[in-house]
Amino acid sequence: MHPATLPRRRFLQSASATGAGLLLLPSGTVFGQNAPSKKLNIALIGVWGRGLAHYNTLMKENVVALCDVNELRFPDALKAFPNARTYTDWRVLLDKEDKNIDAVVCCTPDHHHAHIAIWAMNRDKHVYMEKPIALTVSEARAVRALYLKKRSKLATQAGTQRHAIPNFQRVKEMVRDGAVGNLQGAFAWGNRQLPRPGYLPAVGTPPATLHYDQWIGPSPMHPYNPDYFSGRAGANCLQWNMFWDFGTGQVGDMGAHTMDLAWNALDATYPTSVEASGDPFNPDVTPVKMQAHWQLPANAWRPEIRLSWYQGKVFPTSPKKFIDLDGIGHGAMFKGNKGVLLSDFSTRMLIPDAKADPADYIPRPREKQFPPIGDFQEEWINACKGDPTKTSCNFDYNGLMTECMALGLVAYRAGKRLKYDGQTGQTDDAAANAFLTRAYRAGWPLQG
Ligand SMILES: NC(=O)c1ccc[n+]([C@@H]2O[C@H](COP(=O)([O-])OP(=O)(O)OC[C@H]3O[C@@H](n4cnc5c(N)ncnc54)[C@H](O)[C@@H]3O)[C@@H](O)[C@H]2O)c1
Repeated sequence: MHPATLPRRRFLQSASATGAGLLLLPSGTVFGQNAPSKKLNIALIGVWGRGLAHYNTLMKENVVALCDVNELRFPDALKAFPNARTYTDWRVLLDKEDKNIDAVVCCTPDHHHAHIAIWAMNRDKHVYMEKPIALTVSEARAVRALYLKKRSKLATQAGTQRHAIPNFQRVKEMVRDGAVGNLQGAFAWGNRQLPRPGYLPAVGTPPATLHYDQWIGPSPMHPYNPDYFSGRAGANCLQWNMFWDFGTGQVGDMGAHTMDLAWNALDATYPTSVEASGDPFNPDVTPVKMQAHWQLPANAWRPEIRLSWYQGKVFPTSPKKFIDLDGIGHGAMFKGNKGVLLSDFSTRMLIPDAKADPADYIPRPREKQFPPIGDFQEEWINACKGDPTKTSCNFDYNGLMTECMALGLVAYRAGKRLKYDGQTGQTDDAAANAFLTRAYRAGWPLQG
């Protein structure tokens, strides 16, 4: 057998047994840039909070640079990554470490995400970006467009790790295989409520160890208040993500996970229209209660359908009086002409219509199921080292969903039904189009 067709371990064994010198191999054959055995050089931006959830995976690679606006987070991070250089401004890190890094993992607050994704991809870095990957429609489109140009060489993953729960694949199979008959509508909801009156009032001054200007980053300046930083690790996002300049509320928080459960099954393209309603508009704070509805064009296996998102204890109509959708908390539902499929992240329940024959739907045999995703973070690491297209939540798939969710907030602010042109990224309403983008502070352009 030619060495190229031998499994690597057997080749190494046979090479050493025959005394064949590995040095004679053309560079790149076994230990080259894309060899699975090579460790990635990674920059981790945002080292505490959600950043901690990535340590176990990242400790198997070379983390060469760390960035955080809070210097007090470095000592613990350096215990895990002792050889890393530290930065407090990700723009400086990306410039200084350009030659040293292959990839970026970003766990900063949401208002930096599209910027960091774009600056990193402009430098040809693979990107793992915590959800949501953007705040606005135009940011989501810019991230996705850049990724689509570079997808043959860059691996991207949006941080919706629940996507790897096998239930996501089973739900997709059931919807595609007609468990509910012909699909008529899809719904997702989340019952979290985080009401706030407005941006926090000025309290005290930032400690010398906190680079507050960098924390504000591209967004308009708001006065310092320690409450923005008072949450526990991994949940501090609940201190800032409801404010328009820092997040998108539940659309980008749990919505990024829960909508993914529906989006994964729908095989969707750009919506053609959107409408939304909810709490009275507050210029500081995203709505607690909101519902948004998108018209999704037909595709090869289903007709045109309406996709709906509900948040803040507003729910779609339950299929049965004895089922309390609030009890599901974060869930998805698919309605068809033969029944309803209800799902949370890890379980699902099919309710065939009274007239439907339950025997009409036969679950796929194991060998025909969508394959398991395995470890979600490892999926991205492996894609960086091997085939960059092999991630399940790349910036194409997730970018379109994020665009759709952000468009829901545009319709909510416009207070009317909007037609949407996915080719141009514009609605049919000039006033609403102003909500597709946001302004950035000097020094923080989206393209850098
Ligand atoms: N995938 C999930 O299940 C999940 C869970 C929680 C949070 N998240 C996401 O992770 C991100 C971070 O959430 P969090 O609760 O950890 O927030 P956080 O406020 O705790 O911030 C995380 C870290 O980033 C640092 N940081 C803040 N601004 C920075 C900047 N400009 N540059 C570098 N570092 C910066 C903070 O000091 C902190 O160490 C959010 O986007 C959130 O939506 C995802």
